[in-house]
Amino acid sequence: MNVLVTGGAGFIGSNFVLQILKEHPTYRVVCLDALTYAGNLSTLKPVMENDNFKFVKGDITDRELVNKLFEEEKLDFVVNFAAESHVDRSIEDPGIFLRTNILGTQVLMDASRKYGVKRFHQVSTDEVYGDLPLDRPDLFFTEETPIHASSPYSASKASADLLVQAYHRTFGLPITISRCSNNYGPYHFPEKLIPLIIIRALNDEPLPIYGTGENVRDWLFVGDHCTAIDLILHKGREGEVYNIGGHNEKTNLEVVKAILKELEKPESLITYVKDRSGHDLRYAIDPSKTRSELGWEPTTLFDEGIKMTINWYLDNRSWWNNITSGDYKDYYVNMYGDRKGEE
Ligand code: NAD
Ligand code: DAU
Repeated sequence: MNVLVTGGAGFIGSNFVLQILKEHPTYRVVCLDALTYAGNLSTLKPVMENDNFKFVKGDITDRELVNKLFEEEKLDFVVNFAAESHVDRSIEDPGIFLRTNILGTQVLMDASRKYGVKRFHQVSTDEVYGDLPLDRPDLFFTEETPIHASSPYSASKASADLLVQAYHRTFGLPITISRCSNNYGPYHFPEKLIPLIIIRALNDEPLPIYGTGENVRDWLFVGDHCTAIDLILHKGREGEVYNIGGHNEKTNLEVVKAILKELEKPESLITYVKDRSGHDLRYAIDPSKTRSELGWEPTTLFDEGIKMTINWYLDNRSWWNNITSGDYKDYYVNMYGDRKGEE
């Protein structure tokens, strides 16, 4: 099988690349990534010399490049992780979110139609369902919950989902969509809550908590997300949406306090700051369809996963030091400048 993984130098995409090459040693994986601020080629260093892996620096909105890639690579599966993914940035500047997340998805699907693929898988998010009230713990997002996005980020992901479903209905493109809850784990970019708190706490810096800290997220270890996508690719039914989540709801304050406890840092570092505009209150996934149809179960519990994640950040200071110092931007040019021709 030839698999195109877009956004494979980002947090979840890179975990997926490393995992799929291990789980399916005969598969050939091509990673297409624009290496935006969120993409980090050093994450893929362990597989850069693998004969079954190829990295291509490029933008999913670049139709010419994408078509050429599809023509050359004879792709069976496309897994689209590439996206602008940070809600706060989408509030500052929505435009790039619409371009990458919606138009980029269209370009990939047009190429998938033109050259033919066995499956186009769209990696979506639980944020497309909007939010749930804090005082109704009995409510969960199912695949039937109406789309109701809050931020420019989630609106762009919701738009892409609608487009993916339209390409299935109108053109018969063999698609699947997964909508996952908040991920955490190795290689998480330090602008997101968990890595931001770990790194700032290690540096004894104030920890910014938006609003009251009572907002709830449903945390899933990244490896469990990747396993679910692998199952959906191979066993999921065409045209279907699958929710992914592990019933692991926590308030932001609970998450931050768990990290502080593990690091033996004082809670006095917690600093309440102005709330995020339109801040979603609670996300909570009902994953029963994915469990019953595909036999998927999360394997990493939060207590274990957060310790593994903290230890990973302690053991891999150079990975995040390079990012926080901005040096990682030079990595591609220094290490792989000559290979740009693969585009
Ligand atoms: P990320 O921001 O860490 O990584 C995104 C990657 O996409 C980066 O490597 C970046 O260089 C690349 N990219 C961005 N624009 C591109 C473009 N125009 N062309 C090619 N590559 C481009 O994101 P992430 O957290 O790994 O999320 C990956 C996907 O999973 C996204 O689609 C996101 O919506 C979805 N998702 C994320 C979470 C989460 O908790 N992080 C949960 C559910 C779904
Ligand atoms: O639910 C899936 C989504 O999870 C993904 O689709 C997004 O790509 C991903 O970024 C994530 O979105 P969130 O907005 O939930 O993640 P973030 O880490 O930005 O924030 C988590 C919660 O923590 C949220 O309630 C806002 C709060 N927060 C965040 C930051 C960065 C803070 O209180 N302080 C902070 O400094």
